[in-house]
Amino acid sequence: MRVLIEPDEAAVARTAANAVAPLVRHATCNLGVATGSSPVPTYRELARRCASGELNFSGVHVFLLDEYAGLPQQHPQSYFSTIRRDFTTAVGIPDDHIHGPDGYAENVFEEAAQYDRHLTEVGGIDVQILGIGRNGHIGFNEPMSSLASRTHVAVLTNQTRQDNSRFFAAIDDVPRRAITQGLATISEARSIVLIATGPAKSSALAAAIEGPLSARCPASVLQLHPNVTIIADEEAAQDLEFADYYRQRSAH
Ligand code: GLP
Repeated sequence: MRVLIEPDEAAVARTAANAVAPLVRHATCNLGVATGSSPVPTYRELARRCASGELNFSGVHVFLLDEYAGLPQQHPQSYFSTIRRDFTTAVGIPDDHIHGPDGYAENVFEEAAQYDRHLTEVGGIDVQILGIGRNGHIGFNEPMSSLASRTHVAVLTNQTRQDNSRFFAAIDDVPRRAITQGLATISEARSIVLIATGPAKSSALAAAIEGPLSARCPASVLQLHPNVTIIADEEAAQDLEFADYYRQRSAH
């Protein structure tokens, strides 16, 4: 794992955009996107580079990591609506280049399996942007999800529903289930960029990078991936035992 520690959120966004930009420049690019607050400054930075003519997203298709079950696509808190608002509209990616499972499908289990097949059919993800939950989840793979999981219907923990309730009027409005790419599905992305900012992520990040490979911390599965870049600010990096060593490695 490459671990890059940056002074603040703005520097994290620039470094993450630098990691994604070369792939966006290819004629076609399958870009895996996460929702949540962590990647938003990176999306803004990519939008800034698009506005200045530095980057062009016409060959980019985006693929959602996960989607709430039970919310129609048009719901303002569906991840489809969220990614439009946070990213794709600003870089001119049309709606028919946004791929994701339909959380409102009649059979969400079949929908999950279908999305997994779709990811394979399109040739897989070139670069996957990830955040990390306070409990170490990636996508909606909560602790004790199978490390071998494919795209599936996941039950959200109370902590995750509580954390995400800031986007809803009340906690009872937060869906209890979601369709998420599984940990094995995510691991098939050719490259992965995980973004972590703020002190609330520090223990999950330390467990993901330095803890044992364990379903207790789903993000630890990334230790097995050959091309992962973790970009953290100082606050998120504060519990890393080997922080000095990561700094030394990235300087050489
Ligand atoms: C959500 C999403 C994840 C995201 C995580 C952290 O539950 N399913 O993809 O990484 O929360 O979100 P935030 O970046 O807002 O802390």
